[in-house]
Amino acid sequence: MNNKFPHESAEKHVTGEAVYIDDMLVNDQLLTGRVVYSPHAHAKIKSFDLSEAARVTGVHAVLSYKDIPGHNQMGPVVKDEPCLAAGEVTFVGQAMFLIAAGSEEQCIEAEKLIRVEYEPLDAVLTIERAMERGTLMGPAKNIERGDPGAALKAAPHRLRGELRTGAQEHWYLESQVCLCVPGEGREINVFSSTQHPSETQALIAELLGVGKHEVVVEVRRMGGAFGGKETQGNHTACWAALLSHATKKPVKVRLFRDDDMKITGKRHRFITRYEAGYDEEGRISAVKFDLNSDGGGAVDLSFAIMERAMLHCDNAYYMPNMSVTGRVWKTNLPSNTAFRGFGGPQGMAAIETVVDRIARALKKDPAEIRLKNYYGTNRNNITHYGEKVEHNRLFMIEEQLMISAAYGKRRDGVNQFNASNEFFKKGLAITPVKFGISFTTSFLNQAGALVLIYTDGTILVNHGGTEMGQGLHTKMHQIAAAEFGVSPARIKVNATNTSKVPNTSATAASAGADLNGMAVKNAIDILKSRIGDAVAAIFTEKYPDDPSSPEGIVFERDQISDSLHPGRTIGFADAMPLMQLRQVSLSAAGYYRTPKIGWDKKKGHGRPFHYYAFGMAVTEVLLDLLTGYHTILRADILHDVGEGIDIGQIEGGYVQGAGWCTTEEVKWDSRGNLMTHSPDTYKIPSVQDIPKDFRVALLQDVPNPDTIRRSKAVAEPPLMLALSVWLAIKDAISAVANHEFEPEFSLPATNETILLSIESLKKQVDRNLVSLPAAS
Ligand code: MOS
Repeated sequence: MNNKFPHESAEKHVTGEAVYIDDMLVNDQLLTGRVVYSPHAHAKIKSFDLSEAARVTGVHAVLSYKDIPGHNQMGPVVKDEPCLAAGEVTFVGQAMFLIAAGSEEQCIEAEKLIRVEYEPLDAVLTIERAMERGTLMGPAKNIERGDPGAALKAAPHRLRGELRTGAQEHWYLESQVCLCVPGEGREINVFSSTQHPSETQALIAELLGVGKHEVVVEVRRMGGAFGGKETQGNHTACWAALLSHATKKPVKVRLFRDDDMKITGKRHRFITRYEAGYDEEGRISAVKFDLNSDGGGAVDLSFAIMERAMLHCDNAYYMPNMSVTGRVWKTNLPSNTAFRGFGGPQGMAAIETVVDRIARALKKDPAEIRLKNYYGTNRNNITHYGEKVEHNRLFMIEEQLMISAAYGKRRDGVNQFNASNEFFKKGLAITPVKFGISFTTSFLNQAGALVLIYTDGTILVNHGGTEMGQGLHTKMHQIAAAEFGVSPARIKVNATNTSKVPNTSATAASAGADLNGMAVKNAIDILKSRIGDAVAAIFTEKYPDDPSSPEGIVFERDQISDSLHPGRTIGFADAMPLMQLRQVSLSAAGYYRTPKIGWDKKKGHGRPFHYYAFGMAVTEVLLDLLTGYHTILRADILHDVGEGIDIGQIEGGYVQGAGWCTTEEVKWDSRGNLMTHSPDTYKIPSVQDIPKDFRVALLQDVPNPDTIRRSKAVAEPPLMLALSVWLAIKDAISAVANHEFEPEFSLPATNETILLSIESLKKQVDRNLVSLPAAS
């Protein structure tokens, strides 16, 4: 594909012309909506009084759960999330009341006059406490292969431990926002920042007690989402819809940054316990993982996320005996949710820890141990859940990257630097990614499109995917131009709209382009077949003695031609009025479902993924031992996107992953209040934090069979390349004790974590020196 094609909104983004929901022009009837949320992590609501608030000048509505016409629910899969709290609140940030007024100030004034009487209850705020209290959200799940118990016993070496990985805030630039405009009768038009318009539509219909055909959800673009708007964009939309329905006026709800951070869920933090058996060479024979996640206050997507974690704690490694158990724990925090990688990062962090620890125990370079354990090409290529690793790119990538990143030479350089520097240490790490592409909830792997051609030869493409900055619309634009053989200027990709393409899946699981691209192609194939028949007939009428056949008709260079009869050609735009005269329909719905997948969730066995995306990163860091501050000196990435083109997604994924691995730390206080609720306490990567020398390359000559234009999904996989940052930091810490002892380590590696890790390492050194037998 043409990689010089700019993002379809690039110019609009930089000139400010791109319309986000907050920029939409409505009319002077527009009201501001505000959500009033719980200050308690867990409390009974004994009574409330909204009457004084309702009397504030400019206030049009103050609503509680009692004012909901339909179901008081906004749970996406399991119906365990009330839209407005009824009787009790279960986390700080839970929506209780809604206010609509002429201005934000009037809303805030009204909020101050709401009276509530609470009876505080005991709150569960950590995974440990949840385990003590037994607050499982559902049954534990297990995937097992071989005999891990016996293999562990038989292993020459064993190690065990516990790894904590932290939560992560999505920090989309556009906070959650929705504008609802009532239509006539029961109609409502919803402009929502959502990755999942069809689910937003469904929830609003149920909430208001109307049909889905009366609710239209439209998404032009989101200002970032990263999974944070896969289900939780629905919440703000539900609140705006209720207020609009109650006031019969347009209402916009836009969360302030701090409120957004307090109210919405995060990436799930995990506590993972593990045990592994290996031989002298570092080959892993058995591993047991016990994964525990903090689900927060409601199920949301927690089980699917846990499932993906369980399917990725092998990462790129073949382990003949394996047992993985996953448990989701309920806590009194906002419901944790999808975040780029969707459990994959937590699963991979676990196995990467194991591999790194094996290398340190054997005093070998972790790169060597990784290579020994990679999935094989012809053998050792079945995952613990039964899927064969086809088109394995691991060896190809490793071989090329070790050379292009000059790993060996730089390892020597790092060792030399460390030998001669007391207060600074360098670290180096290579980590792989093997990421499964498809929704593991198999039926979600479907998509639709609606392609319209107008008689002036312009084309309007509708599809079910949403644009969140990733460039999905740009890809759909390119696909349509390539498939029709016309110039991109003829084509426009429409805002995503539930009245154009119904019953869609979320734009998620990295599958947006794979699924919608095929659906767009299907619609275009249908149109080309109809038009091809008609054009062949037109040519035949002109040359009845030497007829044209539809098989010979080709679409290229803005023309429709008979390839078997040179000279017989008609301009694409010129042909369209003729199609109308001949009564040929110029619109078609396309559809696609992913082939060859099948996953038995209960047994934990099958082929959940259409294919795997592969990549590797080599990262070198510099660590200041006195402050714990790290700098990414250089990152070399080689990533497989088939014949795709998305370098930006790879850079962004790596940097976002580096944030999760290092500076982004989510903290709650002992009452369940989020302490890190603004950019002054929550540190996402900024331009100074990206690698000083950043070398991203795409693996060449690896067309992906069976996908749109032989490309591969790219959104999530590169995030996990950042585990190389985390392990490079660990490598630098380890250098403090000359790699003789292993540092304690967790994720994120904040400055504080790093300093504590260095301290504990120094204590280990001291203890061991003291306990050395006295020379005599
Ligand atoms: Mo994505 S984390 O599957 O919305």
